[in-house]
Amino acid sequence: MRKIAVLTSGGDAPGMNAAVRAVVRKAIFEGLEVAGVLNGYQGLIEGKIELLQLGSVGDIIQRGGTMLRSARCPEFKTAEGREKARRQLKLNGIEGLVVIGGDGSFRGALELSALGMPCVCVPATIDNDIVGTQFTIGFDTALNTIIDAIDKIRDTATSHERTFIVEVMGRDAGDLALWAGLAGGAETILVPEESFQLTDIIERLKSGSGRGKKHSIIIVAEGVMKAEELAIQLKNEADIDTRVSVLGHIQRGGSPSGQDRVLASQFGARAVEVLKEGRGGIAIGMRNRQVVDYELKEVFDKKGDPPMEMIQLSKELSI
Ligand code: ADP
Ligand code: F6P
Repeated sequence: MRKIAVLTSGGDAPGMNAAVRAVVRKAIFEGLEVAGVLNGYQGLIEGKIELLQLGSVGDIIQRGGTMLRSARCPEFKTAEGREKARRQLKLNGIEGLVVIGGDGSFRGALELSALGMPCVCVPATIDNDIVGTQFTIGFDTALNTIIDAIDKIRDTATSHERTFIVEVMGRDAGDLALWAGLAGGAETILVPEESFQLTDIIERLKSGSGRGKKHSIIIVAEGVMKAEELAIQLKNEADIDTRVSVLGHIQRGGSPSGQDRVLASQFGARAVEVLKEGRGGIAIGMRNRQVVDYELKEVFDKKGDPPMEMIQLSKELSI
């Protein structure tokens, strides 16, 4: 292997830059040429590929977003689109590709690997929803952004003795909601991994206020329902007034945490090692504090375990 490329794809995540930096520096350290693909799979199809040097990735480790830009690319979901992408890689003399992104990007990489282009995937998404790795790049930073928001909301909730509903991202996964709710001391946490009864929430709010508790914070994962919808249901069913806060894309930005920078550096470097060994169709992950690599198809063949212990803990601590 003499030349590899790297791209970022799907929803951006804090720490993607640190991962790009690690790929570029490790590749050069190993004597490989390394190119950056702009705008994810879209840029790959369009041939937006440029050679990167050590200095190209200077001063980015601390920055959120991605210097390579990201995109969602419907054309890459078609066989024709992927063939165009494969041809561009060949044209540029690229023999292996590091894909930094979420599970959609991983699916694309699996398809591209099947066309004979070895791809290694680095998990980067705030959702923390990739099977086979305990953590994804960006999750820790987003978690801390949400905790900061909950702390601030708690101040005003206490002052005005109000119930707040805070909606957080995560797509179909509840990790962000669960971890942030636990860390922020939320009274109720709703995640897609477990169904809930409106009557239970009403009961909790009422028994809390019966004990003199004047404020309450409910965290709802976007995969459960919209916060606004829950507010309407609480009003209609129990005449409970709430305020709603939808944190939105703030959760995707900001300088990556130390944990995300280190994770990104470890993942990026391992991805280059795997490509150098001539392997493709591989995902990089973290298990019990060890960096691991495993077959990309396991991400889709296996099912992640729902975080039942943490759900139970959050209930026990918010009685
Ligand atoms: P993420 O990678 O953050 O999960 P998306 O789900 O939007 O984000 O996926 C990113 C891109 O990966 C998509 O825009 C598309 O180009 C590609 N992709 C997603 N699913 C597939 C698929 N089944 N086959 C091929 N490419 C895919
Ligand atoms: O996958 C990351 C994520 O931020 C999800 O949490 C969210 O559902 C989605 O992307 C939002 O996507 P977009 O930026 O396209 O609105």
